[in-house]
Amino acid sequence: MNAIRQCGYAFGSIVTAAPQAAIYRRFVRSVPETPARAVVPVVHSVALDNISFQYPGAPEPTLADVSLHACRGELVALVGVNGAGKSTAVNLLIGALRPHRGRVLINGDDVSALSEGERLAHFGLLVQEFGRFEFTLRDTVGLGAPGAVTDRDIRAALSGSFAAELPLDTQLGQQWGGTGISGGQWQRLALARIRLRSAGVWILDEPTSAIDAEAEREIFAELRRTSAGRITIVVSHRAWTLRGMDRIYVIDAGAVVQQGTYDELMNHPDGRFARLFATQAEGI
Ligand SMILES: Nc1ncnc2c1ncn2[C@@H]1O[C@H](COP(=O)(O)OP(=O)(O)OP(=O)(O)O)[C@@H](O)[C@H]1O
Ligand SMILES: [Mg+2]
Repeated sequence: MNAIRQCGYAFGSIVTAAPQAAIYRRFVRSVPETPARAVVPVVHSVALDNISFQYPGAPEPTLADVSLHACRGELVALVGVNGAGKSTAVNLLIGALRPHRGRVLINGDDVSALSEGERLAHFGLLVQEFGRFEFTLRDTVGLGAPGAVTDRDIRAALSGSFAAELPLDTQLGQQWGGTGISGGQWQRLALARIRLRSAGVWILDEPTSAIDAEAEREIFAELRRTSAGRITIVVSHRAWTLRGMDRIYVIDAGAVVQQGTYDELMNHPDGRFARLFATQAEGI
């Protein structure tokens, strides 16, 4: 009976996934082929310049006149309540969404001159709904890496994580007869994938949302240690991770309402930031 039930579930999944698969195929076909770039472009700065954006059918703009920038070597954070517009800003920066007004700049130039492939080559992105790709450990971490990847590169990307000692041939995902791993462990593999990509701009949308406190500290310490050669943009809801950021943008209802370092923002007790993090900051 259990086997029949599982078959029913599997069939249901196929039916539910079919329209998504069709959308994916359309998307892949819509992106013009560009030759893979082995050279990682150097990025000195990225910026949103007076960006406004409204989702189709939404009654109001989701972002209105948002400007923010980040330079090489900087750690920049976006904070704000759920639905404030942080992920929308990230999606506009990488080109998954097109602004209705305003410009996206990389190294001071408008990105509209770049092809999709050229634009994406600048970014290493960890999205909020990080992917769970049930391949072998090697393929899961190597997915999307530009150029050839050696086992040594993959080992280096996995160092410090639960998978550091696992054979790279380990199949992930129980449905394929492989190893089942936890949500936080999937997120660590997604972080390893970014490390391997070594892009000029890392964008991490809540990179440690599923990760335990100890590992979270290690990950943020490493982000700070290694931030010199790139731009790092982090979306975070945890106050302590924001200390040591070069600049924090506070987004509220689609607008940047404050910006500054942690201490500068905390010095305005009536400000949005201090009110957002008042209870969390007590323990820091
Ligand atoms: N695909 C979409 N279509 C229509 N509206 C959307 C879509 N995605 C997000 N929104 C709306 O845009 C607003 C901003 O969403 P966004 O995902 O940018 O918030 P966020 O700041 O990342 O929140 P969270 O902290 O929950 O991740 C929300 O009101 C949300 O409902
Ligand atoms: Mg979000």
